[in-house]
Amino acid sequence: MSSEWSTSSLDLHLDADLSRRHGRSQRLAAAVRAAIETGRLPPGARMPSTRSMAQDLQVARGTVTSAYEQLATAGYLEVVHGSGTRVADLRARPDAREEGTPPAAGPAPRWNLRPGLPDVTLFPRTAWVTATQRVLREAPAEALDYGDPRGRPELRAALAHYLGRARGVVAQPERIVVCHGYTQALGLLAKVVAGLKTPTMAFEDPSYPLFREIVRTAGLATVSAEVDEEGLRVDSIGPARAVVVTPMHQYPLGVALSRARREQLIAWARAADGVVIEDDYDGEFQFHPKPSGALQALDPERVVYAGTTSKTLAPGLRLAWLVLPRDWVEPVAVAKRIADQHSAALGQMVLAQLISSGAYDRHIRRCRTRYRDRRQRLAAILAEKAPSTEIVGRSAGLHALVRWSPEGPTEREVLQAARRESLALSALGDYWAAEGPHAPGLVVGYATPPQHGYTGALEALTRALDRAFGRR
Ligand SMILES: Cc1ncc(COP(=O)(O)O)c(C=O)c1O
Repeated sequence: MSSEWSTSSLDLHLDADLSRRHGRSQRLAAAVRAAIETGRLPPGARMPSTRSMAQDLQVARGTVTSAYEQLATAGYLEVVHGSGTRVADLRARPDAREEGTPPAAGPAPRWNLRPGLPDVTLFPRTAWVTATQRVLREAPAEALDYGDPRGRPELRAALAHYLGRARGVVAQPERIVVCHGYTQALGLLAKVVAGLKTPTMAFEDPSYPLFREIVRTAGLATVSAEVDEEGLRVDSIGPARAVVVTPMHQYPLGVALSRARREQLIAWARAADGVVIEDDYDGEFQFHPKPSGALQALDPERVVYAGTTSKTLAPGLRLAWLVLPRDWVEPVAVAKRIADQHSAALGQMVLAQLISSGAYDRHIRRCRTRYRDRRQRLAAILAEKAPSTEIVGRSAGLHALVRWSPEGPTEREVLQAARRESLALSALGDYWAAEGPHAPGLVVGYATPPQHGYTGALEALTRALDRAFGRR
């Protein structure tokens, strides 16, 4: 028989037969444990108070207290001072589980230097709260209605101003389409390219594999273009109508597109009646005094500029934007409407407020200093402790490419050594489209750990490299 109850504070469904008195607290504990193990009660979930659970179940409070104690001893629950009882994170403490039950997933690595993430603990929570309060006080009622598929006018106006000032983009609000991340933006562009005569998109090789996948899923063919120390090799683009490029800081190699190549690329677009998609994913983080501006300014009718908050604020926001050639605005806006009407209004308005109040700039400047320091520390520790490796690419962004001679360990050996140090790393090998062999490397995301975890992560990295190189 199943008992179902609700409490005045929390609703909770458990399968437990509590009709018999004998072993009641054990059966209650087993039901809660089952809910935790199947993931219905996730790590961190707040449990009802013993008093309200006892009331709803119509059992003695002592029965619930006893069940909670059993679960706490077995590591399923933890009492957090001041905020009651919560579900513990089993992955973090697999040894705390009862014997004989295999953990649902292995323990999460203690350190993480995978690329793609900013330090999300730096998220400007106070500024975001202030901006949210203001938006909720002042937003017109129509902001809560369906709106323009291109996004909120306040955000498009703020972005046009910001992108022109900070990134040298030629942007008017009417050319901007706000998207659910660059991931969605690329999918929308792919839909438009799918309707063109040559439905083929070129990608730099290496590049982020998910993006090639998104484009193929939209029905396009993809081709690869080579990258050298000057960035994308324009003469290797092949028969494509569109090319995706990361000119400021090639992902993942880290090189910049040279001035000559920028011009060559625009000439290619004009001659091929093609379009260049400029993925400016980390352009706000250039550490030298003369940062380069967007490629888009060279020809705003041939280049689609794409930016995102995934590195400046947090990927969880899912807020990005396209600045489009005039002819592309209508088809991309139609694709956006078909996809999801438009991006969520509240987040857009809060971001607009953050940008126009200056808080966005202040946050980026603060992060830039942090990430620059972290990159310098990474370079210094590798030079001292792992001299067989070197950092290549431009001093910018949130990741560094670490390479070594093919005579050294394989990427697999380095990843294995990292696992033994409880360190998560990414190998360059995961990014190639063309068959190898390729020289080994690591794509190190130095922005990923929280500030207090960075030293530990660096030490784990040097131990792992030591171990991997020492084997040779
Ligand atoms: C090369 C590159 N471009 C863009 C993005 C941003 O994508 P999104 O805005 O969907 O988070 C990422 C994120 O990892 C990336 O690696």
